[in-house]
Amino acid sequence: MENFNIDAAYECVKSDDFPAMLNPDRYMKRSNAFDKIIAATNDHFWDPMDPKYVDFSAPFDLKTQLVMPESLNLELRTAVADKLDEGQKIRLVNGSVHFVLSGILHGEQAALSLSADLCHILLDPGAQEYAANQAREEARHVTGFTNYIKARWGKPTVMDPFLMGLINEMVYSPLVWKKIVGLQMVLEGLAMGLFSNFYQFSQDSVLKQLLQFTMTDEAFHHKFGKIWADKTVPHLPEKEREQIEDWAWTIFSALLKGNSFGFEHKNALYTELGLDWKWVQGAVMEAMADKDRRAGMAKSTNVFRSLIKTLIKSGIVTQRTAPNYAAFVDLKELHAEGDAMVGDEIAEEGIKFLKAINEGRDPRRLAAAE
Ligand SMILES: [Fe+2]
Ligand SMILES: [Fe+2]
Repeated sequence: MENFNIDAAYECVKSDDFPAMLNPDRYMKRSNAFDKIIAATNDHFWDPMDPKYVDFSAPFDLKTQLVMPESLNLELRTAVADKLDEGQKIRLVNGSVHFVLSGILHGEQAALSLSADLCHILLDPGAQEYAANQAREEARHVTGFTNYIKARWGKPTVMDPFLMGLINEMVYSPLVWKKIVGLQMVLEGLAMGLFSNFYQFSQDSVLKQLLQFTMTDEAFHHKFGKIWADKTVPHLPEKEREQIEDWAWTIFSALLKGNSFGFEHKNALYTELGLDWKWVQGAVMEAMADKDRRAGMAKSTNVFRSLIKTLIKSGIVTQRTAPNYAAFVDLKELHAEGDAMVGDEIAEEGIKFLKAINEGRDPRRLAAAE
């Protein structure tokens, strides 16, 4: 297969090469690069089926209460707002959140399938152990988001076909860097940005708790990508590294394209509100046509911040493509910052909380003592 593992730095085999896993020498080549993040997993154990962690039965009225504030809804920042009454605005906000969270649930499923797949191709037993652990954690995210969506809306919406195409490419690709850069850096980075944003602004305490516990896991998944890149990228030939750099931009810019907002996909919701999806798309495009306004909107939500930062700090994004990302983050500010990521603090708080629950202590006392 063309381009498959052309460089030994990847330390991997084709997913159907199981005999390679049984090579006695392979077991002896376990790196210790992932030991810390493997050992940390017990500290943040949680179970989405146990109400001691997240109580999905807590009441919430979708007709009168907003899951996310109106001010963060993209459509309501445009001419769409003038067409709707208060009840319809609540329906649009909560209905849009249903779509986003369904997309996240499908993303969690993709992460589960991808990380399980990494176990078949990574040769380093340490990296493999971490990938197996990640698959276990992604499985509980699938359960957690399913529980939340079930409690609020009954069931998830189908996946946006555009995002499905992007994710399929990563799941089916035999190229390990498409999987790791696509999953561990772009998807995980985007998830950390989105989760931080939702955690910070959500008005539903159940969702906040679910997000915080999910982030205690995701913060480590994100670190896996960075450790892998630090181990691998410096040993790659320039041409190969550039190919990865270009692909990172392709994925990032694809995510930004108009159709990633999924207007057509949300057709049923708009129709219910008496709106035409093409008209809504036009209204949003018009509002975003202004370059400064678009940049302001992107920067204020910070959704892309951790993702861009990881790509830069791992040497995947260099001066060659860095200017492409400048509309979405302040690159100077990013370079001046330390290694802390958006969401790290939320995850750390979550870990303290989980430790208390797991040791049989009352986590509310922990909050009171601080
Ligand atoms: Fe996840
Ligand atoms: Fe993850």
